[in-house]
Order: sequence, then structure tokens, then C-alpha cells
Amino acid sequence: MMRAAVLVDANEDLQVVEVTLDPPGPREVLVQMAAAGVCHSDWHVMQGDLPVPLPAILGHEGAGVVQAVGEEVSRVKPGDHVVLSWIPSCGQCFYCLKGRPDMCEQAFTVQLSGTLPGNAVRLHWDHGALHHYLGTSCFAELTVVPETGVVVIDPTIPLRQAALVGCAVTTGFGAVTHTARVSPGDSVAVIGCGGVGLNVIQTARLAGADPIIAIDANSQKETLAKKFGATHFIDASQSDDLITPVIDLTRGIGADFSFEVIGRKETIEAAYGMVRKAGTAVVIGVAPPHLDVSFNAFSFPSQSKILTGSWYGQSVPAIDIPRILSLYQQGRLNLDELVTQSYRLNEVNQAFRELIEGTVGRGVIEFSS
Ligand code: APR
Ligand code: ZN
Ligand code: ZN
Repeated sequence: MMRAAVLVDANEDLQVVEVTLDPPGPREVLVQMAAAGVCHSDWHVMQGDLPVPLPAILGHEGAGVVQAVGEEVSRVKPGDHVVLSWIPSCGQCFYCLKGRPDMCEQAFTVQLSGTLPGNAVRLHWDHGALHHYLGTSCFAELTVVPETGVVVIDPTIPLRQAALVGCAVTTGFGAVTHTARVSPGDSVAVIGCGGVGLNVIQTARLAGADPIIAIDANSQKETLAKKFGATHFIDASQSDDLITPVIDLTRGIGADFSFEVIGRKETIEAAYGMVRKAGTAVVIGVAPPHLDVSFNAFSFPSQSKILTGSWYGQSVPAIDIPRILSLYQQGRLNLDELVTQSYRLNEVNQAFRELIEGTVGRGVIEFSS
């Protein structure tokens, strides 16, 4: 038995309850969680905006210590410190072979089915089986994940900071590094300065971008955004027009790159509008599946902008997670000040309330060992 945070239905609080866990299957790993980040994607699920099979144990941004491995597991062993990856890519599908494991077909199937690869379910409670969530389900003292869903890290790195590399840091870092490929001196605008947006900002700084224009509807985010590298801040609560101030700050041209890190129609459209001709707008924010956005058709040829998305930062977790942690150890990426709040598992609903109030950079659930 162990404790976990279960979502039974949309628009309800999470229930922190006793659940049982089967031993790991042949290619699965049992992880004792140390820390799990509170990411807005889980809130989308709790709101019913992202449909996943329920009831499920939420949490997809975590780090912990391997307790046991299945008999066919070769890449990790008990005692290893690991970060969980919510894209347990198969290595064999078209996209994996193309070098795009972020688009792995098997990983999408796992996400939609609420199981582990092969339709396995290892989680149960009094009312029957519980769904896995994004192959991670890490709002739990223990979890079983696919071998491909863990990345071994240097054990000297604090697991509280490492947890955030499971989603927010890798997503932001990869969007700048892989999707946009920002170069020194490029101008960057970032709409949404939460856990993910702050990592877009700090990676843009690492890439040498200037200016870095942070935009958020919560004026409290200005201090944090500037700490992470923003050169300017636009308070979106003061005006509906986000495009004009960005054009004014970029010599009347528009930004080379914009990143939308919220998942709303108005801000996605603004992200497209604020880049210069032949510039690139990257949508990271996850909108509800039914949401449509609209763009002027003539602008596609006449302005030749690139409008694209970035899912998990287009990353290869086994390469990018250690790389990001090495940059952290060198003092070039700031993970310490990203965590502004720690919670116990039974405070998880409060953690989401504070995420929505916008008072936190990133909140982290910490598990006692
Ligand atoms: N205009 C400007 N800023 C806004 C608006 C808006 N209309 N709505 C929300 N924001 C700001 C919030 O004030 C907050 O600072 O967006 C930020 C969102 O941050 P978090 O809640 O910390 O969310 P985060 O975990 O960073 O995720 C952001 O990326 O991966 C996706 O699913 C995730 O769609 C979500 C997005
Ligand atoms: Zn996330
Ligand atoms: Zn694949």
C-alpha cells in the first residue's frame, strides 16, 4: 500500500488515498518518488479540458530512486536516481526512426489509453483498477513506469530540482534550442511566465537572445521573469494589444521569435502577430482539443512567418535531461529559484490553487523517504 493523489472526475479535487501497486512487468521500473512538480497540464486535466481516462493518479513531472526493475530491464538498476519522462518513446516507430521521439506513436497510445505499453495496468484501489497518467503517475509515493520512461541522472543533484526537468525545464529548454534554434542577438517574446515560460526565458538568455520580452497577465511575474533573464516585461492585464508593445521594443519590426506558453486563443493569435516577417512563432501552451484559432490567410505567403508547435521541447530525454542538469551544475541554468513553494502530498489541491492564483514559479510536492 502507498498513498497517491487520484482524480476521479473532472472538476473535483484530487483525493489523496491508499492505493496498491503491482510489481514491475519485465520492461518496467518501480520508482520511489522524491519530488513531483505541479504543472499546468494536470490542471487542464482536472478542469476537463484535456480528456484522459479516469480515475487516474496524476503527476507527470517527477524524480526519484529506482526500487526494483523487471527481468528484461538493462538500462537502470535499483538505487539509480532517475527523472521520469512522459514520452516513453518506443525507438521503433516512424517518428522514433526519424529522430523525432517527441512524436512517438506508442507514447501517444500510452497517453490516450491511460495504461503502460502493452495495455498493462499496475495501479489499483478499493474500487478496482486505476489508470496510469502519461505513463508517469508520480503524485504517488511509488510508481511503476516503462524502462523508456526513466533517465538516470547524477546522484549528487538534488531530486527536488531534478523533478522539474521531467517537464517544465525540458519543454522550455527544448522549444528554444531544438524547435526555434535561437541565436545570439535574436529578439524573443514569451507569453506566459509560469514554470514552463520561465524556462523559455532562461534558455533564451543562455542562447544570447536580446531583447527578451516577457508577457504575463499577472504583474507579480515581472520580478521572477527578470530574474530568469527577461529584459522587458509587458503586463497583459493592462491592455488587450500585446502586439504593438512588442513591435515597439523590436525596432518597429516584430520579434524574431515568439513563444506562447499558456494555451489560449487570444495569446496564440498574438504570438503569430508579434513576430516579424519570416519570423517564427512557437506554440507550447496546450489548448483544449476542440479550440480553433484563426489567422489571416493572405499573411501566410505575404509575410512568410513560420507558425509551429513544440511538444516536450522536441527533446530526446535521454540526451537532453543530463545535458540540462549539467548546465544546472555549471550554474548556467537556474533550477534552485524556479521552485518557489514546497508541499506535502496531502496539500496537493492547495498547490493547484496557488498555481492558478499565479503566486508560484513552480510548486513541488516533496515525499518523505
Ligand atoms: N495573458 C497573459 N498571461 C496569462 C494569461 C493571459 N490571458 N492567462 C494566464 N497567463 C499566465 C499566468 O499568469 C501564468 O504566469 O500564464 C502563466 C501560466 O503559467 P503556469 O500556470 O505556471 O503554467 P505552466 O505549467 O508554465 O504551463 C503553461 O504550457 O505545457 C503547457 O499545459 C501547459 O498549457 C500549459 C502551459
Ligand atoms: Zn508538464
Ligand atoms: Zn516510437
